[in-house]
Amino acid sequence: MAKKEVPAPRQTTINEQPRLHQRAGEIQAYGTVSHGLPLELEEPVRLEMTEQLNLLLADTMTLRDLYKKSHWQVAGPTFYQLHLLFDKHYGEQVEIVDEIAERIQLLGGVSLAMAADVAETTRIERPPRGREEVPVQISRLLDAHQIIIGHCRQLARRASDLGDDGTNDMVVSGVLRANELQVWFLSEHLVDVPLVHAEEPRARKAG
Ligand SMILES: [Fe+2]
Repeated sequence: MAKKEVPAPRQTTINEQPRLHQRAGEIQAYGTVSHGLPLELEEPVRLEMTEQLNLLLADTMTLRDLYKKSHWQVAGPTFYQLHLLFDKHYGEQVEIVDEIAERIQLLGGVSLAMAADVAETTRIERPPRGREEVPVQISRLLDAHQIIIGHCRQLARRASDLGDDGTNDMVVSGVLRANELQVWFLSEHLVDVPLVHAEEPRARKAG
């Protein structure tokens, strides 16, 4: 009868020390999409959509940060209400950022994440580091919204043409409509109406 082999003791690498400072190659390059996802969307469609969504993401992250800058640096008699409003819009943009980034990932792409990459990609004008007056802050925010809204309209139509209904839905319902609403709240602050004394009818500009 053959002698039963006794398995050699398993080499163990268990160690209580954390393995710090590890690096390795990327598992997926930026600008690519993974193959063979069961989404019934062709790879070229997912490639184009993720590229467009990354542009939208970079602009949305920039707008998000512009809101926080405005929240911190606002000055003047309307400080309190604008301080709160800017932070409310910031919070809504944070959620939109996450929605866009995760849509890119679920389409098999790689989403932008870091500030340096966002700065290189965004189409929104870079503001100065210092503080600016309220009308300038609001104008900058409105200009940023306009870039995003214009891109949303074009991207939503393209997504629909390519059969990417999920991207179309997210862009319209999640991004476009939220941006439109924020534009309303901001732009009303740039309407020059009297605060205390109503103007005499004859003082009003004709037309
Ligand atoms: Fe705050």
